[in-house]
Amino acid sequence: MILVTGGCGFIGSAFLLEWLQGADEPVVNLDLLTYAGHPGNLAALAHDTRYNFVHGDIGDAELVGRLLAQYKPRAIVHFAAESHVDRSISGPMAFAQTNVVGTLVLLDAALAHWRTLDPQASAAFRFLHVSTDEVFGSLGPSDPAFTESHRYEPNSPYSASKAASDHFVRAYHHTHGLPTLTTNCSNNYGPRQFPEKLIPLMIHNALQGKPLPVYGDGQQIRDWLHVNDHCAALRAVLQRGQPGESYNIGGRSERANLAVVHAICTSLDALRPLPGGQAHVSLITHVKDRPGHDKRYAIDDSKIARELGWQPAIGFEDGMRQTIEWYLANQAWVDSVTSGTYRNWVAQQYQGLAASA
Ligand code: NAD
Ligand code: DAU
Repeated sequence: MILVTGGCGFIGSAFLLEWLQGADEPVVNLDLLTYAGHPGNLAALAHDTRYNFVHGDIGDAELVGRLLAQYKPRAIVHFAAESHVDRSISGPMAFAQTNVVGTLVLLDAALAHWRTLDPQASAAFRFLHVSTDEVFGSLGPSDPAFTESHRYEPNSPYSASKAASDHFVRAYHHTHGLPTLTTNCSNNYGPRQFPEKLIPLMIHNALQGKPLPVYGDGQQIRDWLHVNDHCAALRAVLQRGQPGESYNIGGRSERANLAVVHAICTSLDALRPLPGGQAHVSLITHVKDRPGHDKRYAIDDSKIARELGWQPAIGFEDGMRQTIEWYLANQAWVDSVTSGTYRNWVAQQYQGLAASA
């Protein structure tokens, strides 16, 4: 049995679906079902007896302690977080609460649980903390990619909260010996990503003929990794990672935001032309830049490749084509997650960003 937190989100749901396809080991999924958590992501598991869902907060110490005592997991895979940078700028408190305090509550409960295990179970136990490359800050155009020993330099309230959680994980290993693993991953894309993030937002807006809001000049660079590649890396780290270590995970696919948006437009021109034959690029609108916007992220993945034999398998162009096709075929999913709350967020976030650049 493993305990997964945040399994109703984008990456957690991909992880759970693949996990139960690949093994018979049961899972318990603890998820608060915030605006980003969608039980429908796991509809395929509704009648699967290996899947257990618990609606609750990782910051609820009593609940987490009870779940660990009840299920006695051999590992915790910790995805639950507030994950959107723009939301952390307008509302940072939820990020401190879940990403920092919630992670600390989980670590404390994991430590108490780990201490009850017999020597064999104790040696096998793992706490896998899923983190981000954003903790390392921003790179210049010709800087070398982030290695695991790059200094921590978080620039947004989101990355500051993830950096704090990474530090607590490190401290619980160093101080108490808890067998922790940390992963720092680049930008994920793929099916079921909530349309507040760049790629699904652009697909969603383009399909409705709405403006495609590019922050600033759109020359910021991200490294894109298909979510299934990320999940494969997490399974490798869980199986073969060294306790106390951290592993960088990347897609070997650095792209400027504007190039990504252009690629989406070109695909949609072929797959779903706009009425009247207007090209989708005509919807691109440069808006005010994100405050403190990181210029470039890039991952040096040589440690995980060398030590665990993992490398990304899905090329960006293939992955993007599959992702766009998934959104076209799953409009009902998009409708189900773009409720009133979503529309309120879009109105609040984008109305203030008058056209610029
Ligand atoms: P997401 O926002 O799609 O999902 C987050 C999930 O956590 C949701 O199901 C939500 O309901 C749940 N949750 C939030 N607060 C909770 C709480 N207090 N208790 C229990 N559940 C709670 O996030 P994602 O994009 O799937 O990211 C998952 C993890 O991976 C995060 O820790 C994020 O920092 C990290 N990460 C994400 C990316 C990316 O590109 N999306 C890249 C690197 C790392
Ligand atoms: O690098 C890993 C991180 O990637 C994860 O830790 C975060 O959880 C995840 O949200 C993501 O952060 P980013 O800020 O890079 O992702 P986002 O999709 O929000 O933005 C990607 C880039 O696109 C970024 O440079 C900002 C830009 N952007 C984004 C939006 C939503 C736009 O130009 N317009 C937009 O409307």
